[in-house]
Amino acid sequence: MNPARPLDQAPDIDDEGPDLKRRALLTQATTAAGGLALAGAAVPFVASLLPSERARAFGAPVKVDFGTLAPGELRTVAWRSKPVWILRRTKEMLASLDTDTRLLADPKSQVTTQQPDYARNESRAIRPETFVCIGLCTHLGCIPNYFPQPGSVGGDWPGGFYCPCHGSMFDLAGRVFKGVPAPTNLVVPPYTYTGAESVLIGADSPKET
Ligand code: FES
Repeated sequence: MNPARPLDQAPDIDDEGPDLKRRALLTQATTAAGGLALAGAAVPFVASLLPSERARAFGAPVKVDFGTLAPGELRTVAWRSKPVWILRRTKEMLASLDTDTRLLADPKSQVTTQQPDYARNESRAIRPETFVCIGLCTHLGCIPNYFPQPGSVGGDWPGGFYCPCHGSMFDLAGRVFKGVPAPTNLVVPPYTYTGAESVLIGADSPKET
C-alpha cells in the first residue's frame, strides 16, 4: 500500500481553495483505501435475526434487538433482501460528524428520498447514538466496507464507509463525500423504536413521522 501523504503536506486551502484541498483528501483516501479494501472487516449477517423467507418475500418489518452491540460495533440484518446496518456510535463517532461539511455533497440531507423526515438531521437518526442505514452504495449498489478508525483510509479520513467498487466514501452518518461516483447519501429506511434497545425496521412510528 502506498502510504497516503498527510494532508498537512497537501496544498493549503487558503492558497488553492477548498476544492483542491478536498480533491487532495479524496485522492489520498482513495489511493490508501485501494490497498485497505481487502483488509476491511467483512460484515457478517446475523443468522439468528433473519426473518423467515416468507416474511422477507412480503417485505415484512424486521425487529432487531441490539442490546448486545458494543460501542462502535456494526451489525447487519436483512430487510427486503437488502443489508441493513445497525451501528452503535460512540461519542467520538458522533463528534466526527461535526467536521468540515464542505467535503460532503449533502450534509443536511436535502435529498429527501434518502431518509425519512425524522432522520433529516446531522446524525441522520432518531437517536444519534444508533445509526440505521441500508448498506448499499448509492452508485451501483455494492456493499461498502466499514472503516471506523480515523485515518484508516488515509488523509483526514474521519471514519466511515468505503465502497471498494469505484471508491465512493461516506461518513459515519452515511453522508456521501463530494467528488466520488455515488450521487447521494446512503438510504435510511423507515424504522421505529420498540424498546430502549430494539427497533422495527420497515415501519414508521406515528410519533416519529
Ligand atoms: S458501487 Fe460503490 S462506488 Fe460504485
